[in-house]
Amino acid sequence: MTNQTTQYILALDLGTTGNRAIIFDREGKVAGQTYQELTQYYPQPGWLEHDPNQIWQDTLNCLQKVLANNQISASSVAAIGLTVQRETCLLWDKTTGRPLHKAIVWQDRRTAKLCNQLKEQGKASEIQERTGLVLDAYFSATKLAWLLDWVKQNYSDINWDNVLAGTVDTWILWNLTGRKVHATDHSNASRTMLMNLETLDWDEALLELFGIPRQIMPKIEPSIGSFGTTDPELIGAAIPITAIFGDQQAALFAHGCDRPGLLKCTYGTGCFLVAQAGEQITRSQNQLLATVAWTKQDGKVHYALEGAMFTTGACIQWLRDGLKIIDSAAETDTLSRQVNDTNGVYFVPALSGLGAPHWDMNARGAFLGITGGVKREHMVRAVLEAIAYQVKEVVDAINLDCDTPVSLLKVDGGVAQNDFLMQFQADVLGIPVERPAVVDATAQGAAFGAGLAIGFWDDYSSLVSSSAVDQIFKPGKNSADAQANFKIWQKAVERSKNWID
Ligand code: G3P
Repeated sequence: MTNQTTQYILALDLGTTGNRAIIFDREGKVAGQTYQELTQYYPQPGWLEHDPNQIWQDTLNCLQKVLANNQISASSVAAIGLTVQRETCLLWDKTTGRPLHKAIVWQDRRTAKLCNQLKEQGKASEIQERTGLVLDAYFSATKLAWLLDWVKQNYSDINWDNVLAGTVDTWILWNLTGRKVHATDHSNASRTMLMNLETLDWDEALLELFGIPRQIMPKIEPSIGSFGTTDPELIGAAIPITAIFGDQQAALFAHGCDRPGLLKCTYGTGCFLVAQAGEQITRSQNQLLATVAWTKQDGKVHYALEGAMFTTGACIQWLRDGLKIIDSAAETDTLSRQVNDTNGVYFVPALSGLGAPHWDMNARGAFLGITGGVKREHMVRAVLEAIAYQVKEVVDAINLDCDTPVSLLKVDGGVAQNDFLMQFQADVLGIPVERPAVVDATAQGAAFGAGLAIGFWDDYSSLVSSSAVDQIFKPGKNSADAQANFKIWQKAVERSKNWID
């Protein structure tokens, strides 16, 4: 039972491009939020790092600001839910609290060679059997192996008893609890490529394969449960942290997708289509991932099937910050409507290689079909269309893996606010696309999990059904063209594959 004077649940949503704190009231409505963009470090082509100290400082600032700006006292917050970008990982020294290197981000491809060597040694199927994951540089295992090698070379006198490893949730939890709790949840652990999907514990054979000492790994706990309390020195109260989810699993939870047949697609930095698989592991025959959706303290496990596409918002950010051909993400919508089509241009969004269903770490981004008449508007439109084509490939894979065909796509994420993209998505899929009023489903899922864990809310179904729908995009008159062009786009994808050695 919760204290009746507590009126809010606070969600920390720590994504790839920024960190956010959102406060939800008893009705599940947003009562305030703060956001801070996160610096991206690209030390070499294909590499991407984050500064763990910045993630922690920004998280703390967001937390303090969201309370102060909305005149909410920390003691009126009943619980915190934490949801994070997955796979990104780091090592730190528990005596100093200092990271030993920047965090290696999920999009980073530096360990592609190591993955390819493991493939040549015939390890891919064993890894997939144990973890449900396709052997790829995307996951944490090879990144942690790289970090451990780097530390061995650069800190010859390191005391390994002081080293801790973790994904972003673990790092932030450790800091939030005043360096007391070193833990993660099953949904994040299932993305490391080190957790056995059946035992739900670190897999000894994989720890050995990647040279990772078990004692540096966090304890794995149920996603909806109990992770300690915040250090009162930080925000003036010891608030229980009662849910941790990978961000994509949190969105699945927020959408009410708790039964097989229900799925959602989050358009963030990347695009992640996750389908609820129920209490049994469903293994894909079509290059999708088997993963944990969430776990509960009563021992219940929900699994999922996932199609991970690496660059979505990242492509739009690249148009803005890299190419500088747009001033804001919203402009892509306006520009795309100023032309009738892409004038024959196709874009392959392989800026970090290709994820599902291709899994080509050596693919790279490409524009194909450029002729003299092509303008900025066509290129921008080609980028939006490519985002929708990628999702179509993954929906096709889900349809092959599951008995019931997908008949409605529930969407969320910042990029889902783009009406042109959502209409094109419905056109190319030939099914309706449903967008909720609150597109921050990741934060909402973390808040719902945290509130349900402590009885702040007691009915999951009514909580998720109270979320309003903003708009349903139905397939329109451009459906046939979009579906025909999808086939040409697939040819472009083939050309971009295996581009680098
Ligand atoms: O697997 C990576 C994913 O969790 C990142 O999510 O929202 O930062 O694109 P996002």
